[in-house]
Amino acid sequence: MRPRILVTTPIPEPGPSLLSGAADVTVLEEAPTYAELAERCASGEYDVVLTQLRDRIDAELLAKATVRGVSNFAVGYNNIDIAAATERGIMVGNTPGVLTDATADIAMLLILGTGRRVIEADRMVREGRFHGWEPELMLGADVSGRTLGLAGFGRIARATARRALGFGMEVLFAPRPPHDRAVTDSELGEFAGKVRKVEWDELVAASDYLSLHVPLNEDTHHLVDADVLGRMKESAILINTARGPVVDEAALVAALRDGRIAGAGLDVFEDEPLLAPGLADLPNTVLLPHIGSATVSVRAEMSRLSALNAIAMGAGRIPDHPVNPTAWPGA
Ligand code: GLV
Ligand code: GLV
Repeated sequence: MRPRILVTTPIPEPGPSLLSGAADVTVLEEAPTYAELAERCASGEYDVVLTQLRDRIDAELLAKATVRGVSNFAVGYNNIDIAAATERGIMVGNTPGVLTDATADIAMLLILGTGRRVIEADRMVREGRFHGWEPELMLGADVSGRTLGLAGFGRIARATARRALGFGMEVLFAPRPPHDRAVTDSELGEFAGKVRKVEWDELVAASDYLSLHVPLNEDTHHLVDADVLGRMKESAILINTARGPVVDEAALVAALRDGRIAGAGLDVFEDEPLLAPGLADLPNTVLLPHIGSATVSVRAEMSRLSALNAIAMGAGRIPDHPVNPTAWPGA
């Protein structure tokens, strides 16, 4: 029997072709509400569900679910209660690797764009306020020679480090804030002698640009709060391409407004698509609509990986990119 796969939102090719070649596929044209998704997952009509970040797959939904696999169209999976899925014997898959460089490009773009005030400058030109070269027009912050602090040192952080080193930045990292752990020289690999590991507190105090590359979980929720913002340099800029709730966004707005830090470049928000009150009014911010992985080729790769994960799970095989391979003991 062909596996039955529910796709909660239309995805780009090649996913649809791969899926329809191997499974009976239902694609929802409109993003389902939580209640609708819960009902469908419990209906017995589907073996696997292919989800987006905004689909909340929590313990309550999983407790009634009849699907045996969830294929998330993302590398992050904070929208899914992994412990509950594992306990229920539900396998979860994700799309690691393919979006690393694209997301690091957006981190670098936010570093350059906030430092050099690209949005303010563009707006000045468009609004007819550019009256010719001036010695003190739109002065921004240096990038080369400045210190980039990386919170986290996974794939995307390392790809960002590679770019920042190319721009002549000094690169520090704290591997797994707020808790530290040792990193051996062999783990540093190509970065040995080029980047320096510091404690989280030192990272906060020393960074000219503090860039977040941690997964969202209980340890990292509001990792950057009013206290941390207060310990950053007044000239510092916060960069977030990870997950919005890693930052206390209301505290960030207050810090930016009061000049306790100099700027922020954000691709993610605490309660997407909403923004904390006041954030959009601040000129010293660059705000992007969660487009870290948004290139044509990367989204096609995410589509391919998430479809192949779904097809494998539908056939009862552990997918190429499992998040919780122990969910199916003996598979
Ligand atoms: C996007 O945010 C992802 O996790 O893939
Ligand atoms: C995300 O995939 C990361 O490892 O940074």
